Amino acid sequence: MQRYVFSLTALTLQFSCGYGAISVLLHSIISIMGKKNKLSKFADLHSYSNVYENFDPKHPQLVSAPGVAVEMKGNWAGQHFGNNQDIILELACGRGEYTVALAQAYASQNFIGVDVKGARMWQGASIALERGLANAAFLRTRIEQIDLFFGREEVSGIWITFPDPFLRESKESKRLTSERFLTRYKSFLRPGALIHLKTDDPTLYQFTLDTLSGFEGAEIIYFDDDIYSKPLPFQELEYKTYYETAHLAVGRKIKYIRFLIT
Ligand SMILES: C[S@@+](CC[C@H](N)C(=O)[O-])C[C@H]1O[C@@H](n2cnc3c(N)ncnc32)[C@H](O)[C@@H]1O
Repeated sequence: MQRYVFSLTALTLQFSCGYGAISVLLHSIISIMGKKNKLSKFADLHSYSNVYENFDPKHPQLVSAPGVAVEMKGNWAGQHFGNNQDIILELACGRGEYTVALAQAYASQNFIGVDVKGARMWQGASIALERGLANAAFLRTRIEQIDLFFGREEVSGIWITFPDPFLRESKESKRLTSERFLTRYKSFLRPGALIHLKTDDPTLYQFTLDTLSGFEGAEIIYFDDDIYSKPLPFQELEYKTYYETAHLAVGRKIKYIRFLIT
């Protein structure tokens, strides 16, 4: 595949010297191929029974396959999972590696991966369906709206896996462990619900510790700035996401904070 992409690029460069129009055409073909791929993933998501989406932030209506409006707030366990098991969220789930791995390891809990990017989520949702993981589902929305989709005490835990660190100070409130987000999570968490942050980013790690020390009701249970330098304290930490694998490959240290907010 890599060789294929390389030869197409080389071909484009070669043509672009004397044949500008052909070069433009080749670029268009490559970009249409990419878009088609994305579009077909979106089409898949719209037909998947384990995916819920919200398209319009101004009208936070969830839609499930095949395009049916549904009210899930307070009803996830009974209505989607058909049980009364605990619900654990993975925020910024990307391709959903944690959601899938946890659902496979802990059949007595329900897991919901949340992200805004459908083309990434497609991977986790497809794998969950292929493996028959009835305790895994996905919610495509902006996390800013997450409190609109879960009822009081409906959620028993949250994993936040390698979220964007938003390093500029002016963007601090976009960090998924900022007060703005913690307040939203508080509205639907059960007392004693654990929140887990895994990150490679030292700024986000320190920011989270600092935020928690000033956030009413927050309690830090465990924190470590280099979890793989010693035997893992919790087995669930061994699962690796796409971004984690990339960070490890370039020698970054993986950090973890386990906390609760009551
Ligand atoms: C760095 S990626 C990490 C993905 C995955 N957890 C991993 O480790 O491979 C961050 C993810 O957060 C998602 N994201 C960032 N801000 C978001 C928001 N406000 N609402 C929903 N998703 C968001 C992005 O779409 C992206 O998939």
